[in-house]
Amino acid sequence: MSAAVPALRLEGISKRFGAVQAITDMTFEVRRHEVVGLLGENGAGKSTLLKILVGLVEPDTGTMYRDGQQVRFRTVTAAADAGIGMVYQEQSLVPSLTVAENILLGCEGHGVNAGVFRWRKLRELAQAQLDKIGSNIPVRAVTSQLTFPQRQMVEIAKVLSIEERTAFDPVVLLDEPTSVLDGPDVAVLFEQIERLRERASVVLVSHRIEEVMAVADRIYVLRNGVVAAERRPTETTTDELRHLMIGREDTGSHFHAERQADCADTPRLEIVGLSSAHFHDVNITLRKGEVVGLAGVQGSGREELCRAIFGALKVDAGEIILDGEKVKARSPRGAVQVGIGYLPAERRTEGMIGTMSVAENMSLATVGTVCRGPVLDREREKRVVDDWIERLRIRTPSGSVPMRQLSGGNQQKVVLARWLMSGDLKVLLLDHPTRGLDVGAKSEVYALVRDLAANGVSLLVLCDGLDETIALGHRVIVMRDGEVSAEFAAVRDAKPRPDKIMEHML
Ligand SMILES: Nc1ncnc2c1ncn2[C@@H]1O[C@H](COP(=O)(O)OP(=O)(O)OP(=O)(O)O)[C@@H](O)[C@H]1O
Ligand SMILES: [Mg+2]
Repeated sequence: MSAAVPALRLEGISKRFGAVQAITDMTFEVRRHEVVGLLGENGAGKSTLLKILVGLVEPDTGTMYRDGQQVRFRTVTAAADAGIGMVYQEQSLVPSLTVAENILLGCEGHGVNAGVFRWRKLRELAQAQLDKIGSNIPVRAVTSQLTFPQRQMVEIAKVLSIEERTAFDPVVLLDEPTSVLDGPDVAVLFEQIERLRERASVVLVSHRIEEVMAVADRIYVLRNGVVAAERRPTETTTDELRHLMIGREDTGSHFHAERQADCADTPRLEIVGLSSAHFHDVNITLRKGEVVGLAGVQGSGREELCRAIFGALKVDAGEIILDGEKVKARSPRGAVQVGIGYLPAERRTEGMIGTMSVAENMSLATVGTVCRGPVLDREREKRVVDDWIERLRIRTPSGSVPMRQLSGGNQQKVVLARWLMSGDLKVLLLDHPTRGLDVGAKSEVYALVRDLAANGVSLLVLCDGLDETIALGHRVIVMRDGEVSAEFAAVRDAKPRPDKIMEHML
C-alpha cells in the first residue's frame, strides 16, 4: 500500500443530533504511522468525530475511506474488523467482569471453541495485552475493584488487542485517555503511543495542549463542529492553539492570580486526628475563605480524605469540626445539610443522573434555593439554571434536555454548577474540578474558586497538576502514603517551587 494513501479519510462529513449540529462538512485525514492530535473546546465535536470513525454514530452525509477504499461502518464490530478501535471518554468496562474478560469482550473468537470458553487461553491472551503496556494489574481481578486509573489502563490494553485481529495496520482512537492518569501512568501511555506508531496510526484527543504538542505529528483544531485549523507542532505554539480553539483573545493569566483575596484567621473546618484504612492521623485546619491545594500521587490518600470529610467513607478515628462545632451526622446527606459540598472526580459515574435533565441535575443539591416555601419554583429554577449555563458556557440547547446528550466536558460543568450555585456553602471539596474542561471553562472555574473564597467559603482542592495547585492555593499541603508529609505557604508573592513540592510526594 502506497504511503500516499491515508489510513483513514473522511470527506464532507456532517452529523446533527436533534437541534444540535455537532459536525459540519468536515474533511479529516489520518495518515499511515501518524499520531494525530485533536483539540477543541467542550462540545466542539471531538468525541462525535471519533464515534463516526469507529462505527458508533452514523453520519448524515459524507464519505469515508479506509486505505483508499470507500467504507461505511454500521457497527463497532465492522470498524474493528477494519482495524479501528477506540478508548472511550466514558469508561466502557463491565464492572462485574474480570480484567481478562473485559479485555477480550467483543473478540471472543480466539478464546472460544465451539461455544466453550477456554479460560486459560483467554487469560493468556489478556495477559499478552497487559504485558504490552507493562502493566501488573492481575487479569483475574474483578474490574469494579480497580482504581479509576487502573481501569483506564485496562481500556488501553483492550484497544491494543485490535492489533491481533486485523490484517490492516490498526488505527487507535484515544478520547482523553490521560485525563484520569497522573505522571508515571501518562509516561507509560506515551511510550505505548510511540510503540504503536511503528505499526499503527493514532488519534489522540486531550485538553492538555502541551501533551498533544509533544506527541502528535499533526494537530487538528475543531471549533463548533468544523475544522478551524490544521498545524504541525513545529509550526505553532500553545498560545496559538489555545486561541484557535476558543476563537477569541485569551484573557491572559487564566489563573486570575491577582484576584486572590486574603483569608481570615478564623478556623472554619478542623480535621482532627482523622484516620481510616487509607490515611492516618490527618490534622488540617482550613481557615475561613482559604483555598488549600492538596498534592499527592495515586495512593497518597488525598481522594479518600475528601470522601471521608464528606461522610462518604468510613473513618476509624478523629473528628471533623465546622465553625467550632463537631459534625455529628457523618453521611453525604448530613454534610450537605451543614454546608459541605463535594465534587467527585468520577463525575460521569458518581455525580450525575443521565436520564434527568440538565436543570434537574444542577438543582440536586440546592433544591432549597429554587423553592418558594415547599414548592419548587420552576420559573426561579429556570432563571438560575440559565444563568449558570451562560456563566460556564455549557453547550446545550436548553436546561431541559437530558444530561446524557451533553458532551463529556459539558456534563462536568453541570455537576460543578450544582455546587457553585448553592447559597449555604461553607466548605467545598473539589476533586480535580477542571479535569476534562476546555481552557475557557478552566479559567471560569479558577475565577469562581477565587469568588467563593472571597465570600468566605473554604476550599480543599485536588488539582490536575502542580501548577494549578500552586496557583490556586493560599497553602499547599502534601500527602504521601496516607500522611501529611509537608506544607507550603502559597500566598500571592510567596509561591513554592513545584520541584520542592514534588520531593515530598514521592
Ligand atoms: N447523543 C447525543 N444527543 C444529542 N446531542 C449530542 C449527542 N452526542 C453529542 N451531542 C452534542 O453534540 C455536540 C458535540 O459533542 P461531542 O461529544 O462531540 O463534544 P466534544 O468535543 O467531545 O466535547 P468534550 O470536550 O466536552 O468531550 C455537543 O453539543 C453535544 O451536546
Ligand atoms: Mg468528548
